[in-house]
Amino acid sequence: MNTMLLPADHPDTPVLAAELIKSGALVALPTETVYGLGANGLDPEAVAQIFQVKGRPGDNPLILHLTGADQIAQFCHHIPETAYRLAERFWPGPLTMVLPAKPNVPKRTTGGLNTVAVRCPDCEITRKIIALSGVPIAAPSANLSGKPSTTTARHVLDDHNGKIPAVVDGGPCAVGVESTIIDLTGDTPRLLRPGGITPEQLRQILGEIVIDEAVTAQLSPDAVAKAPGMKYRHYAPQEPVVIVAGEREVAARYIRAHMRKEDRVLCFEEELPLYAGCNPLSYGREDDPDSLGAGLFAALRILDDPGIHQVYARCPKGEGVAFAVQNRLKKAAAFRIIDPEAEG
Ligand code: TXA
Ligand code: MG
Repeated sequence: MNTMLLPADHPDTPVLAAELIKSGALVALPTETVYGLGANGLDPEAVAQIFQVKGRPGDNPLILHLTGADQIAQFCHHIPETAYRLAERFWPGPLTMVLPAKPNVPKRTTGGLNTVAVRCPDCEITRKIIALSGVPIAAPSANLSGKPSTTTARHVLDDHNGKIPAVVDGGPCAVGVESTIIDLTGDTPRLLRPGGITPEQLRQILGEIVIDEAVTAQLSPDAVAKAPGMKYRHYAPQEPVVIVAGEREVAARYIRAHMRKEDRVLCFEEELPLYAGCNPLSYGREDDPDSLGAGLFAALRILDDPGIHQVYARCPKGEGVAFAVQNRLKKAAAFRIIDPEAEG
C-alpha cells in the first residue's frame, strides 16, 4: 500500500480523508497534542484495524474525537453538568473526559468498558474531517504501541509508511504531550493522565479532584489501572532511560562521571554547556515548560536508536505542563530516578 501524505492546507484533503474514514479505512490525523491514528469509532472492524496496525492490546480503549460538546449526548449518558462546563471552558482543546458510554459505542472502541473517553481537538482540519465523515473518529496516538508518541507527520510515516492509506500533514503539534484525561464517572473526578489542561485549571471548575496513583508512581503488574493505557511501559525509546534529579551542576557532575561512550544525555537547553563534548540532546528550555512538552517526544524518538546504551535524562520540576512532561519522562524511565546527592 502507498501511504498518501495529504497537506492540511490542500482544498481536497478534508473530503479525501473523510471518504477514507467513511469507507472504514485508517487515516492519521494531526491534533494540537499528538498525531492520532483515526478510524470510524462506531465501526468495530475499522477500529479493529487500529489495534492491529498499532500493535495495541485490545483492552486499551480509544478516545472518540468529536466536533463539539453538542455531540457528547450522542455517545454518553448520565452526563454530569460539570462535563458541559469543562467543555465550554476547555474545548476545543487538550482535555479528554471519561463518561458512561451509550450502547451505540462498540466495545472494541471502549476496550470492553462501559465508559467512553471523548474529546474535541483544537485542530481545524481534523474537526472538519470529523464533521464531513459524519461519525466520531476513534484515534489513539499514532505511534506503534510502546514507542514515543508522534508529533509530526514524518514520525507517523516512520512507524506506518506503507501500512495505512493516508496521513494528513498539519505540521508539528503545538502541545506535544497527549491530552489531560479526567474521569467523571466516580464520586470525585479523577485525573488519569496529566496534559495541556492542568490540575489547577480543572480544580477551578470541579473543586476537589483526585490524582490517580498511576500518574505519579509505577503500578505493580497486578494492579488494575483506571486508564488501562497507564499500566503499559510507554513513550519509551528502546534504550533504558534513567532520570537524574538534583541541581544542574550536581547532576552534570554525576552524569559526566558515570556515562560511557554509547550513552546519551537528554537535558534542558540551558544545560548544554555543562555537557560539552558529551553530545547532549536538548528537548527545550527549562524556563519554558511548553517548549519541553513540544520537544519531548521528538527527542525520545531520536534516542530510539539501538546504538545507544543508556539515556540520562533531566526532568523539569513544577506544575502545569511541566507536570505532564514529568509524567511522560518518568514513564519512559519506568520511574527509575537517581538522586546524586543521596548517592553521595
Ligand atoms: O491527546 C490525545 O489524547 C491523543 C490525540 C490523538 O487525541 N490521543 C491519545 O490516545 O493519547 P491514546 O490512545 O494514546 O491514549 C488514550 C488513553 C489510554 O491510556 C487509555 O487507556 C485511556 O486514554 N482511556 C481511553 N478510554 C478510556 C476509558 N473509557 N476509561 C479510562 N481510560 C480510558
Ligand atoms: Mg498513546
